[in-house]
Amino acid sequence: MIGVFDSGFGGLTVLKEILKKLPQYSYVYLGDNARAPYGARSQEVIYRYTKEAVDYLFKSGCQLVILACNTASAESLRRLQQEYLPQAYPGKSATDPARRILGVVIPLAQEAAKLSKAKRVGVIGTEGTIASGTYVREIKKIDSQIKVFQQACSLLVPLIEAGWQKRVETKMILKKYLRNLKSQQLDLLILGCTHYPVLLKEVRRIMGKRVLVPNPGEVVANRLVEYLKNHSEIEGQLEKTGGRCYLTTDQTEKFSILGSFFLGHQIQAEKIVL
Ligand code: DGL
Repeated sequence: MIGVFDSGFGGLTVLKEILKKLPQYSYVYLGDNARAPYGARSQEVIYRYTKEAVDYLFKSGCQLVILACNTASAESLRRLQQEYLPQAYPGKSATDPARRILGVVIPLAQEAAKLSKAKRVGVIGTEGTIASGTYVREIKKIDSQIKVFQQACSLLVPLIEAGWQKRVETKMILKKYLRNLKSQQLDLLILGCTHYPVLLKEVRRIMGKRVLVPNPGEVVANRLVEYLKNHSEIEGQLEKTGGRCYLTTDQTEKFSILGSFFLGHQIQAEKIVL
């Protein structure tokens, strides 16, 4: 099974695109809604919460976990790969098969470096993602000439969770957040938060035709297709029955309603405790 983790609903925008490209696999989505949002939490707390979620997914039979959450990817992926995986899943054998954790930051950084001709890239995200500087580091690792301009948009997640994405107030706040970035002659903007694809059309409209705003879910899904082609040891272990399971650490009813909106089709969530 493939596990997809997010602090809440937002990761469903990533799962939605993955399901279009790779419907044959079985997926477990886990939203830690009881402890969301992660965006303004400390790195230590984000690491602990993410580790608990990943642990749950591996113990439920996932061989591969995607951290669809930008904040979790930015603040904990490297440490999970370097400390948790070698300790929890040290070797490769029939009784201890390979486990992998992938994030969303590197695929988006690579896409930006590939597509930006002006070498001026913007990133918007939660406070935690922006403060971590992870996007800046990953983009500059690929091409040190690229200038990266960042903007934390702390109010957008609560507005989207409240179902305010079409409200004029949300559009005004978004415009204000993007004002500085608009004056930086960017040619690409990364939506560095799972929730922002809900505002994709509006962001594209505000930034104008010269600025590419890739759909993060599509970028991550394309990279996953490539990854599975290149990693037969993982691909071979994955269940291909098209199963879907949606888990939340908070109210199942709210998750089912908002989750159906994010995903674009009806779902039924189950509650778990981490
Ligand atoms: N999923 C988070 C992200 O992509 C946004 C919500 C949160 O702050 O937990 O950064």
